[in-house]
Amino acid sequence: MANTAYSSADPDMDSFVDDATADAAAAERARPIPRISIQGFCDDPQVADVLQYAADDRRLSKAHVSVHMGGIGAAIAHYVDSPTPNLIIVDSALRGAALLPELDKLAESCDPGTRVIVVGRQNDVLLYRELLKRGVSEYLVTPIEPMALMESISNLYNNPDTDPVGHVFAFIGAKGGVGSSTICHNVAWTLSEVLKSDVTIADLDLAFGTTGLDFNQDPVQGIAEALAAPERLDDQLLDRLLTKCSERLSIFAAPVVLERDYEISPEACDIVIDVVRQNVPFVAVDLPHGWAPWTKRVLLQADEVIITAAPDLANLRNAKNIVDLLRQSRKNDGKPHLVLNMTNVPKRQEISQKEFEQALDLKTMAVIDYDCESFSQAANNGLMVEEFNPKAKAPEKFREIAMKMTRRKDMKADKPAASALSALAPLLEKFKLKR
Ligand SMILES: Nc1ncnc2c1ncn2[C@@H]1O[C@H](COP(=O)(O)OP(=O)(O)OP(=O)(O)O)[C@@H](O)[C@H]1O
Ligand SMILES: [Mg+2]
Repeated sequence: MANTAYSSADPDMDSFVDDATADAAAAERARPIPRISIQGFCDDPQVADVLQYAADDRRLSKAHVSVHMGGIGAAIAHYVDSPTPNLIIVDSALRGAALLPELDKLAESCDPGTRVIVVGRQNDVLLYRELLKRGVSEYLVTPIEPMALMESISNLYNNPDTDPVGHVFAFIGAKGGVGSSTICHNVAWTLSEVLKSDVTIADLDLAFGTTGLDFNQDPVQGIAEALAAPERLDDQLLDRLLTKCSERLSIFAAPVVLERDYEISPEACDIVIDVVRQNVPFVAVDLPHGWAPWTKRVLLQADEVIITAAPDLANLRNAKNIVDLLRQSRKNDGKPHLVLNMTNVPKRQEISQKEFEQALDLKTMAVIDYDCESFSQAANNGLMVEEFNPKAKAPEKFREIAMKMTRRKDMKADKPAASALSALAPLLEKFKLKR
């Protein structure tokens, strides 16, 4: 929709400001909203204006907000083949009996984790209860004020009783050099491009991490500063320590210097990852292959664990040990995910997918063939495989992993935004010149 943000010349603006001033208490209660995606579908242009006005407020400065007209009908049509954001706000002129079946239709396309705020016309407690029963997070009645709307959103994401916003995905290799970091980076990038969600990669391989190289970045500061003084890490410091690679992808890069001694404590990891997850919907943690109390803690605390293994015996044994440990210690969680990487190398004896699945009692999430050309060229040019060679087989697998680990249903492959490709093109040229 057209940008309808209020200007001071707009007479309605004054009324909002007055209302906001009058409602200072609501302003106090509306705390900053994390980096979530919010999409609004409105019947009433005034509600759309309120949403747009709220979107321009500092409290929503981290969130990605888009506002569309067409109410619930447009929302249903939109999400048939698009992923749902963290929050949908539907403004509907429909009355209760007509509204409820439409909401049921919308719910059919909602991904787990998506929340819904409904803006309606009836101040009716029975309708309110009916909506809550259906999983709607909040019901607001028109006319709504920007501050009240922000307070409602803030309550959904800042309530200490609710889960933290971000999901943490821990990536670990069953052996060194099996491609765990490459998969972590490519999947995280795919999440940011395809699901259009904010993603942060936390590189915990402090001495040898490749996140900076893979995204062609050389930041001065990063995750080591946060781990050294985790109690100092707040939203502002985090913003300074993160390196933005694209509109939606940031990296928390490893220092990769050997003069320093790195002593990581499990508690420091907990605090740092928690601060990151409060700010972004997806956190991909790139763990080095190795075993320390903090690696174990990160694995046990993560929402999902992705184990990458190459098809040989040592990988099988190590993967089994990791899977057994996770099963024992995470009784109320789902199984970890297994990715078989670097398969189908000519003349090499390999342990088959079936043998892995039987030994681990686990279905493989994806099998990625050894593809020397695409992976080496992408890595050496600081690009993702899909950026370098969209026709390679691996990008499809990365997409599959991204969808499965976020429990999204399959959807049509969105091509990465042209801008993301062109933004990296000059860097590629730089590399070409250097060689
Ligand atoms: N399917 C593949 N085909 C060919 N090369 C691959 C494949 N997957 C990864 N590689 C390459 O293997 C090398 C090692 O990958 P990577 O650094 O991601 O492994 P890792 O498991 O993270 O290693 P570490 O133990 O050092 O953390 C990289 O050069 C990467 O480009
Ligand atoms: Mg690695």
